Amino acid sequence: MQEVTSSTSINRELVKFVLKNFQEHDINLIDLNDFTMPVFSVDLEKKGFPDEAHDFLKQIEECDVIICSLAEHNRTYSAAFKNIFDWASRINVKVFQNKPMLLMSTSPGGYGGGNVMNTAKTFFPQFAADVKETFSLPKFYENFDLESGVINPEILNDLNNKIESFKIQIASLKSE
Ligand SMILES: Cc1cc2nc3c(=O)[nH]c(=O)nc-3n(C[C@H](O)[C@H](O)[C@H](O)COP(=O)(O)O)c2cc1C
Repeated sequence: MQEVTSSTSINRELVKFVLKNFQEHDINLIDLNDFTMPVFSVDLEKKGFPDEAHDFLKQIEECDVIICSLAEHNRTYSAAFKNIFDWASRINVKVFQNKPMLLMSTSPGGYGGGNVMNTAKTFFPQFAADVKETFSLPKFYENFDLESGVINPEILNDLNNKIESFKIQIASLKSE
C-alpha cells in the first residue's frame, strides 16, 4: 500500500524503490486517487458510506503487509489521506487491521516529513497498525535519483537495515 495523490509523487518513488526488495511477493500499489470521496461529515455519513471507503478497507484486509509512505502537508497528513482515513475509521476503527507495516515518509525538506511520521507513529497503532519499522527520507531531491533510488550511502544503509529487519519480522510472524 502506498499513499499517493500527486502524479509526480515523491512518496510513490520511495515506495517503488523499496518494493524492489519485495519482488517475490504479489504487490498491490494503491493510489489514493482511486478513493476520492466527498469531505467527511457526520451529516453525509447518515446517508451512507461511499463504496470507496469499503474498497479501501478491503484492500487492507486482502494484504499481508503494508508499506506506506506518507506525504506531509502543513506538518501533518495530506487532506486526501485524512479524508479516506476518516471515512474508513467510521466503518472499522481498526483501519489497518493489525497488518505489519513499514511506515515511511519523505519530503523535499530536511525533516523528511518527520512531523507526519511522528503523528502516524504515535497514532496509527490506535487504529490497529502493527508498525514494525519506520523510515523518513530527508531532502528527497538531494538524496534520491529517479533511476537509481536512494543515493546517499549512509541513508541507503539505514534503509536497507530497516527493510531487512522488517522482512525478518514478517517472516517470523508467518512461521508462528
Ligand atoms: C499544501 C502543502 C503543504 C506542505 N507542507 C509541508 C510540510 O509541512 N512539511 C514538508 O516537509 N513538506 C511540505 N510540503 C511539501 C511536500 O512535502 C511535497 O509537496 C511533497 O512532494 C509531497 O509528497 P508527494 O510528492 O508524495 O505528494 C507541502 C506541500 C503542499 C502542497
